Amino acid sequence: MQKICIRLKQEGKIIGFVPTMGYLHEGHLSLMRIAKKKSDVLVVSIFVNPTQFGPQEDFQRYPRDLARDKRLIKKIGCDFLFSPSIKDMYPQGYKTYVDVQNLTKVLEGASRPGHFRGVTTVVAKLFNIVQPDIAVFGQKDAQQAVVLEKMVDDLDYGMKMIIAPTVREKNGLALSSRNLYLSSEQRKQAKVLYQALRLAKVMIKKGERNPSKIISKMRELINKQPLPQVDYIAITDAKSLEPLNRLKGEIIISLAVRFGKTRLIDNIKRKVS
Ligand code: PAJ
Repeated sequence: MQKICIRLKQEGKIIGFVPTMGYLHEGHLSLMRIAKKKSDVLVVSIFVNPTQFGPQEDFQRYPRDLARDKRLIKKIGCDFLFSPSIKDMYPQGYKTYVDVQNLTKVLEGASRPGHFRGVTTVVAKLFNIVQPDIAVFGQKDAQQAVVLEKMVDDLDYGMKMIIAPTVREKNGLALSSRNLYLSSEQRKQAKVLYQALRLAKVMIKKGERNPSKIISKMRELINKQPLPQVDYIAITDAKSLEPLNRLKGEIIISLAVRFGKTRLIDNIKRKVS
């Protein structure tokens, strides 16, 4: 893959890249369409990265269907699919990790220790292999996007990062490969995540600037449903990811909620004056 990409770059081609863990849905495909529009060659990777899953997490049961993914990718007009094996990426004796400080300790990082170290390590490796000019990620994983933008900046990757909007079902539920785990009743109740985010949006629009008040209303709304268990609800600065005493500037409202063993995340970004 690296040889191919070096050759493409020598030919002056702009390489667009979308890394994924597969089991593709419309959210992934939307990123690919954006990357394709902005590049000459579209590379997609599918790799369920073991280093970003905790020991108690769902690495083993994470959904996989490469044959179906290949059909979907073909339809988009992807030029190269890179789907390495675990041994290709982490051969015996593998020792090197990329770790972005501070930003990775909060929110998802607090609930999933080591998660972002796995994400930044695999994405750094993928970037070194594919050497993209443009890489597209989803706003769905807001903290991942912030952390990876920081890594690209700090390590002088010199590529353009595009963060694309979250694709949702009609009822507002953000598309995720993990939605597959939900029972039909859990799925029905899962729309409350987006309802809570919309409630926050309305409160801000009406002038509320106290994050605690917004968070407690969101929690109240979610707790009206019997199944969801809130892991966290946070309102932070969009860049530093630090909690705010009062809403101002670019902010991210994010939440993580459990339905049984399944953990869902969602967020919205707002500009507050
Ligand atoms: P994965 O969960 O497969 O997601 C791949 C990309 O699709 C990420 O950039 C993610 O933010 C984006 N995405 C997921 N759901 C989306 C939605 N509903 N709308 C828009 N974009 C969406 O994120 C990962 O894989 C991994 O951590 C990875 C970056 C590949 C590193 O292993």
